[in-house]
Amino acid sequence: MAHPIVSLAKRRGFYWPAFEIYQGVGGLYDLGPLGARLQQELVDLWRSTYVLPEGFLEVDTPTLGPEVLFRASGHLGEFADLLVCCRSCQEPFRADHLLEGVHPNPEALPAPEVDGLLVQHKVRCPRCGASSFDPARPFNLMFQSNFGPIPGRFAYLRPETAQGIFANFPALYRLHRKRLPFGVAQVGRAYRNEISPRQGLLRLREFGQMEVEYFHGPTPADKDHPRFGEIAADLTSLVPAPAAGTPAAPVAVTFQQAVDRHIVAHRLIAYHLARVQQFLLRAGIPAERLRFRQHEADEMAHYALDCWDAEVLLEAGWVEVVGIADRGCFDLEQHQKASGISMEAERILAEPREEEVTEVIPNFATLGPSFKGKAKAIGEALRSLDHAVLAGPITLTLEGGEEVVIRSDHFSLSTRKERRTVEPFLPHVVEPSFGLSRILYCVLETCYQVEVSPSESDAEQGTSEPEDGEGSAAGGYVRLRLPPVIAPTKVGVFPLMDRDGLTELALQAERRAIAEGLSAFVDTSQSIGRRYARADEVGVPFCITIDYQTKEDGTVTLRHRDTRTQERHSIVDALLAVAAAVRKPVSFGRGT
Ligand code: ATP
Ligand code: GLY
Repeated sequence: MAHPIVSLAKRRGFYWPAFEIYQGVGGLYDLGPLGARLQQELVDLWRSTYVLPEGFLEVDTPTLGPEVLFRASGHLGEFADLLVCCRSCQEPFRADHLLEGVHPNPEALPAPEVDGLLVQHKVRCPRCGASSFDPARPFNLMFQSNFGPIPGRFAYLRPETAQGIFANFPALYRLHRKRLPFGVAQVGRAYRNEISPRQGLLRLREFGQMEVEYFHGPTPADKDHPRFGEIAADLTSLVPAPAAGTPAAPVAVTFQQAVDRHIVAHRLIAYHLARVQQFLLRAGIPAERLRFRQHEADEMAHYALDCWDAEVLLEAGWVEVVGIADRGCFDLEQHQKASGISMEAERILAEPREEEVTEVIPNFATLGPSFKGKAKAIGEALRSLDHAVLAGPITLTLEGGEEVVIRSDHFSLSTRKERRTVEPFLPHVVEPSFGLSRILYCVLETCYQVEVSPSESDAEQGTSEPEDGEGSAAGGYVRLRLPPVIAPTKVGVFPLMDRDGLTELALQAERRAIAEGLSAFVDTSQSIGRRYARADEVGVPFCITIDYQTKEDGTVTLRHRDTRTQERHSIVDALLAVAAAVRKPVSFGRGT
């Protein structure tokens, strides 16, 4: 059964299935007014607590890319899930989803093993109950289209925002004044033609990502972070990849211990795990429902050398929300090969060194008679060749496809000594990839709380009324404990009565709140208790009540959602208290 947040989200305008007037499309969801604002608050929190303090460069690149880009990145060849179709009703399924509970790590299984396990465990089709499936086969998740009217100029929707960053490495390196390390961030949509998405915002065909590519040097000394000390004592829960045949088990350690005990490969990965953890805690994920699980070798994406998933415990089980991968130099190397453009950075050598450099010198005295008008182009092509390839007979392919055979008297080699002060290398990358849509859902589900004996303190203060409709769920009172910093609406303003000038005062207070940058609304309908209940179930952290005393002395009641306490303040002081609370990050880190 779906979690009750799903119906609340639809009723109150966080999110709902897209295009429902046409029966919807699997894996496509709309964010409603509250959801769109919540998403923006999450992006702002990520930017203000991670991107800006780390000095990352932020870019915005196209969601469409050409075939050559995704051939080079490996996505067209490798980015596939195993598909299994029911032989009886033809319903498609992701093989690993059918095998959950049957195998500890079904994502890692090859097709023949999937087929064997489906038969051995008499797995049934979740749709029709039959237990016979077609053989498992890879299904590529890329969405394909075409650029313009010319057939064959394929366009692909990006499956991750990352490739737009890798393809720009030379420009970004230059903009960072050729210094490593540096990080590049991007927020945007990613697209995956998921086989059969049935898990709401957790598995979408179009979803939000916030990614960082952290470029650094390849040596062990580069796998560190100067600010590691800031997070070393933070506690975390890690599930390292188990040795073959042993079960995975969580360990509670500090990041320092994680590195010292070689649970995490190096301080650079540990540093980013800690920053990811801080972000998720600030966004409202409870510490006890957060862990990092390391991928097993056969579970890793085609580009990864090591990968840790930040997972959140939902009612349905643990769900990955952020992937932190060590991509080595895979992507830059692939794009360098495919484009012919150097993706290298330079490092200053500790000791300058003398090196022999051999250049190819075209011999136009022999090239001219052999190739006439083409001699100049062939000479230039020779000049750019690595001299090593000229050791044997060589055939050059000219523009237009013509092939010419080069003889040893068409060129000479010249060798000289050069003093090198720098050396080129391909940077390595650590990538924290945040699934924005999944985080948004996890925040909603984990902040959703039902209280059996509801708004007692409101009742004590004479403001509560029996709940029905908004604010009540079967058997309880709903309080969405979103951290104030990400709550879509920061403050509700309620005139006690919709008369006697109280509503005008409420509208003035709302305008002042908005002028302070605090999203606010005025609610005049029904009792104050009902209004509190409506605000509580969508996570409004503060409510201001305007009453007859306000007319006399300008004071209002400020009510705190989570404690239900009420204080009397001037309007300005009440708004200042709200402003202070929403800008202050909630408790973060797990310092010992
Ligand atoms: P899964 O194993 O659940 O399919 P993944 O390992 O393919 O996920 P990554 O490729 O690491 O996920 O993607 C990075 C992040 O993007 C994930 O941590 C997740 O939060 C998000 N993400 C990936 N696929 C989807 C999807 N179909 N819908 C929503 N978010 C997604
Ligand atoms: N950039 C990581 C992923 O989306 O797979």
